[in-house]
Amino acid sequence: MNIVLLLCVIILAGFEAEALYYDYSATIECLAHPQKPLYNGGIIENPELNDGLKAWIQVSEADVPVIAMVKTTKEYKFSGAIDAKPNCWSMLKGGFTADTTEVVELYFQSNTTSVEIWIDNISLQPFTEKEWSSHQEQTIEKARKRKVVFQALDEQGNPLQNASVNVTMNKLGFPFGSSINKNILSNNAYHYWFASRFTVTTFEDEMKWYTNEYAPGKENYFEADAMLRYAKKHGIFVRGHNVIWDDSRYQPNWVSALSPSQLNVAVQRRVNSIVQRYKGQLIGWDVVNENLHFSFFESKLGQDFSARMYNQVHNIDPRTTLFLNDYNTIEESRDGVSSPSRYIQKIRQIQSSNRQLPLAIGLESHFPSSPPNLPYMRASLDILRSAGFPIWITELDVASQPNQAGYFEQVLREAHSHPGIRGIVMWTAWSPHGCYRMCLTDNNFKNLPTGDVVDKLLKEWGKTTISTMTDKYGFLETSLFHGEYEVEISHPVKKNLTFTHKIQVLPKDESKKTRQFIKLSV
Ligand SMILES: *[C@@H]1O[C@H](CO)[C@@H](O)[C@H](O)[C@H]1NC(C)=O
Ligand SMILES: *[C@@H]1O[C@H](CO)[C@@H](O)[C@H](O)[C@H]1NC(C)=O
Ligand SMILES: *[C@@H]1O[C@H](CO)[C@@H](O)[C@H](O)[C@H]1NC(C)=O
Ligand SMILES: *[C@@H]1O[C@H](CO)[C@@H](O)[C@H](O)[C@H]1NC(C)=O
Ligand SMILES: *[C@@H]1O[C@H](CO)[C@@H](O)[C@H](O)[C@H]1NC(C)=O
Repeated sequence: MNIVLLLCVIILAGFEAEALYYDYSATIECLAHPQKPLYNGGIIENPELNDGLKAWIQVSEADVPVIAMVKTTKEYKFSGAIDAKPNCWSMLKGGFTADTTEVVELYFQSNTTSVEIWIDNISLQPFTEKEWSSHQEQTIEKARKRKVVFQALDEQGNPLQNASVNVTMNKLGFPFGSSINKNILSNNAYHYWFASRFTVTTFEDEMKWYTNEYAPGKENYFEADAMLRYAKKHGIFVRGHNVIWDDSRYQPNWVSALSPSQLNVAVQRRVNSIVQRYKGQLIGWDVVNENLHFSFFESKLGQDFSARMYNQVHNIDPRTTLFLNDYNTIEESRDGVSSPSRYIQKIRQIQSSNRQLPLAIGLESHFPSSPPNLPYMRASLDILRSAGFPIWITELDVASQPNQAGYFEQVLREAHSHPGIRGIVMWTAWSPHGCYRMCLTDNNFKNLPTGDVVDKLLKEWGKTTISTMTDKYGFLETSLFHGEYEVEISHPVKKNLTFTHKIQVLPKDESKKTRQFIKLSV
C-alpha cells in the first residue's frame, strides 16, 4: 500500500552562544533531556528560549536556505524547503510518498556553515491514498460546487410532483483549458475539438515579443489577432503570454545588440504596443515571464525593472490581472530559486511598489520525468495560498515516461481540488509536428491516453447530464459544479410538454447563502 506523508516542522536560524567563564562539570552521556544551562545561562539572556526569541539576535540579514530530505534504504527523497528567516522561527511544510514501510531518516540541510539550525515541534502525518483522495473530494464539494434547489411549477403556480428533469452542463465554471497555436486557425477538426472542451487558453508563441516584432519596429499581430477572434467567438478566455521574458535566450534576435538606453526604448515600444492593443480583452498578462529564474532586463535596466514593468502594464490596462509566471515551484525541485517562499518574497517585493496592483501567482508546472510528489505539491500550494494572491496553473504538462497519462491525471486532480487554485491551463498546444512535451490527441484528433484523462475529468468536474425527478412538493435538491447549465423539464402527465431553462450556478455570493433557489415553470 502506498502511504503518503506530510511533514511540518519549525526551524530556527540563530547563532551559537558561548559562556564567559569556566564550569568543571561535564558529561559524555547521551542525555534524554538537555541539562539546565551551565551558570543558568551565564550572561545569556533567555538561554532556554522559554521567552520566545527574546534577546536572540540575527547573525546576518540574509535568509538561510534549509531543505528537508528523507533517507530511505533506496534513496534520498526531497521533502521540502524554506528560506529560514534569522531571529525568528520559520515553518517548513512539505511531504513525500513512501511505497514501503520502513524506518526512514529525516535530514535538514543547509549549505550555509556560519549558522546553526534549530528544529522544534516536528510532525509527520501519514495518509493512505484513499484518505488523500477523500481530502480532494471534500475540497471539491466546498470550493467547486454549490447546493441548488429547483422547484417545478405549472402554469397556475402549483408544484409539479414527479416531473422528470435533465440538468446538462454546457460550460464549466472552473477555468480549464490548454495552450493553442496558429494551427488552430487552419484546421477545422482542431478548432471544434478544442472549442467543445475548453474555456480558457494561452497562445504558445503568438503573443511573444520575438513573434510580434521580428525586426525593430516591424510588427506582426496577424496570428494573435485571429486567434483572439477565434477564442472570443467560442467564449474562451485568453491569458496573455507574455509581455516580456526575462530569459536572455528568448529575446528577438536584434535585441541582444542593443545598449541599455536603446533597450529601454525598445521595451517601452513593446509594452505600449501590445498591452494597448489587447487592453481589456485578456483575463491576465504574464508581465515579466520567469523573473525568478532570470534577470536579463534587471541586469541591463536596473533591479527595479520588474516592479516598474508591472506598474506600467497596470497603468495601460488597469482591469487585467498581472501574473508572475515561473517553473519549479510546485514541481519537486532542488534549485530553490523559485521555491514557494522565494516566490512569495518576489511577488511581495513587486507589490510593495504599489499595493493596488492586481497581482497573481502563475505556476507553470512542467512536471519532470519521475512520479509527481503530490504531498510536496499540496504543501507548496498551501504555502503559496497563505500569501493571499490568486493562483493559477499556467503551463501544465508531464514529461514523457511510462505512466505519463496516469501521472498527468494525478497532478490535474491535485490542482483542481486545491482550494487556492483559480484555474488550470495545460501546455498541450497541438501541431502536426508534435507538441512541446505532450499532446492530447493524434493528428486526426483522436484522443491519446492523455486526452482521455482530460475527457474523463471534464465529465467528473460536471460536464455531463444528470437525469432526476422532482419530489412530491415539486422540489429537487442537488449539488452542482459551478457553471452554465441547460435544465429540461417535462410535465409529469402531459409528457410531450417540455421546457428548457438556462441557468448559471455561481460560487457562493457575499450573502453567504449556501443554496441557490431556482423556479422552473412548465
Ligand atoms: C512548540 O509547541 C509548544 C507547545 O504547543 C509551544 O509552546 C512552543 O512555542 C512551540 N515552539 C515553537 C518554536 O513554535
Ligand atoms: C409520484 O411518484 C410516487 C413514487 O414513485 C408515486 O407513489 C406517486 O403516485 C407519483 N405521483 C404522481 C402524481 O404521479
Ligand atoms: C546555497 O544555496 C542557495 C540556493 O538554495 C544559493 O543561492 C546559494 O548561493 C548557496 N550558498 C552557498 C554558500 O553555496
Ligand atoms: C432526459 O434525457 C433522457 C435521455 O437522453 C431522455 O430520454 C428524456 O426525454 C429527457 N427528459 C427530459 C425532461 O428532457
Ligand atoms: C402530445 O402528443 C399527442 C400524441 O403524441 C398529441 O395528440 C397531442 O396533441 C400532444 N400535445 C401537445 C400539447 O403537444
